[in-house]
Amino acid sequence: MSDRPSRRNFLKTAGAATSALVLTHVNPAAAQEKGAAQTEATPVTLKVQEDTRDQRLRWWRQAKFGMFIHWGLYSVIGQQEWVMESEGIPIPQYELLAQYFKPKPGVAREWARLARRAGQKYMVMTTKHHEGFCMWNTKLTNYNSMQQGPQRDLVGEFVEAARAEGLKVGLYYSLMDWHHPDGAICATDPAARKRFVDYTHGLLRELLTNYGKIDILWYDVDWPLTWQQWRAEDMNRMVFNLQPEIIVNNRNGLAGDFSTPEHKIEAAQRAWESCDTMNLGWGFQLHDTEWKSPKRIINDLTTCAQQGGNYLLNIGPQLDGTVPEASVKALGDVGKWLDANGRAIYGADGGASISFGNFDNFTRRGKTLYIHAYFWPSHTLAAEWLNFFKPPTVLAVGGLKSKVLSAKVLRTGQKLEFTQDATTLRITGLPETAPDDLVTVLELECDIPPVVDHHTIRTQWKRYDVNTIVPPRPL
Ligand code: GLC
Repeated sequence: MSDRPSRRNFLKTAGAATSALVLTHVNPAAAQEKGAAQTEATPVTLKVQEDTRDQRLRWWRQAKFGMFIHWGLYSVIGQQEWVMESEGIPIPQYELLAQYFKPKPGVAREWARLARRAGQKYMVMTTKHHEGFCMWNTKLTNYNSMQQGPQRDLVGEFVEAARAEGLKVGLYYSLMDWHHPDGAICATDPAARKRFVDYTHGLLRELLTNYGKIDILWYDVDWPLTWQQWRAEDMNRMVFNLQPEIIVNNRNGLAGDFSTPEHKIEAAQRAWESCDTMNLGWGFQLHDTEWKSPKRIINDLTTCAQQGGNYLLNIGPQLDGTVPEASVKALGDVGKWLDANGRAIYGADGGASISFGNFDNFTRRGKTLYIHAYFWPSHTLAAEWLNFFKPPTVLAVGGLKSKVLSAKVLRTGQKLEFTQDATTLRITGLPETAPDDLVTVLELECDIPPVVDHHTIRTQWKRYDVNTIVPPRPL
C-alpha cells in the first residue's frame, strides 16, 4: 500500500491529502459482506501455474474491463443475493423459488450484446452462489436449473452467448454453500467434509469439462474450511489439467493468478481486478436506485487502468433475466465513450501517475500519455489576471517527467498547442467547452514513457522570501 491520496478522496476533500490509496464506499451491501470476509490467501501456487502465468494473463491484461453477472434464485425475491441468510429464510421455503425462476429465452445473448456494446471484453456469471442452486445440468444434485424451474442449462447458454459475441468466458463459483446438508457441518465432521469437498471438486470438474474452453474461474467465499481442508491445491491442479490456459482468482484460499479487491480499487504488486456494483447490491434489488453515473464508472475504470488493474462491473438481472434499465443506459454510455477513447484504456501499461490531479487522471501506453479531464478547466476567473491561465482555456499538469512532442484531443483529433518547463506542462488553445460530454481524453506523444508525479515539484519550486513580496493592493 502506498501513502498516496486516492483520487476520489482527493476530490472530496478539495485538495486535502488523505493517506489511503484504497477507494472504499461504505454501503449496506459491503457491510453485510464483511461476514464473508476472505481469509488472507496463502502464497501457495502450483509450479505449472507460475511458469505459464504471464502468458495466460496476457489477453486479460489487455482487456481491462469485464461484466460480472449475479443471477440466481435470489433474483426472484429482488432483495440481493444474501437474502436467504440475512433474512433467515427456511430452506424448504427458499427451494420453492426455483419453481418461479423462469428466464425468458435468449437472455444470456442479450447480456453478451450489452457487454460487447459497453466495451467489456469478458463476462463472469454466477454458476452457483452461496444459496447452493446450480445453474447447469449437474449430475451431482437435483437442485439445479435443468431439473427445477427453468429446465434449461443456464451455464451452457451463457458460455455460448459470450463466445458468440466474441467475449471471453468466466465462471463464478461459491465454495460456501448454505443449502448442501454438509455445507456447514463439514467444518467439524470429517465424514461430512469428505462428502462435501468431493461434491465441490465434482461440480468444478463438470463446469470445466462440459463447456469447452473456459477462460476464467472466479472462486468465492471459502467458508468454513481452510485451503488444506478444501484440498485447494488438488482443486487447482484439476482445474489446470482440464483447462491449461485458464486463469483463477484468489478466493479458494490460495493466491491464484490475480487478486480481487471488492467495492474498492486497490493496486497490488501482482495482477488484480477490482469488482464493483452499479448500485449497492450484486443480486437484483428492486428498490435500490443508488446507481453510479456513467462518468463515475469511467472514472473507476480509468483509475484501475491507471494503476495497472482490471475492472469487473456487475449487473444484477431480474428473475426473467431482464437487466435493470439504469444499468443498460449507463453501460451504453460507457460503451460509446470507449468507442472514441478506448485507446486510453485497453492495454494501458499502468503506472502513468503516482499522484492524482484535481480534475484529471492519467493512463499511458508505451510513450503515449493520456490525460483524462473529468472537469473541463474552462472559465477560471483567474484567467483575467494570471498569465499562467492565458490564453484560455488552459489545462496544466505539474510534474510530468518526459518531454511532450505533440498533443491532441483523442475524440476529435484536434491538434493542441502547449508549453513545457521543469515544473509544468500547459496545454493551450483548447475549446471552451469540453469536447466530450463525459470525460475528455487528450493524447500526448512523449520522448520517453511518461510518468506524472505532482509531488516531486514541491522540492523544485523557485521559492522567494515571503518578506520581499509586496502586499497586493486592494482591488
Ligand atoms: C462477496 C459476496 C458475494 C458476491 C461477491 C462478489 O464475497 O459474498 O455476494 O458475490 O463478493 O465479489
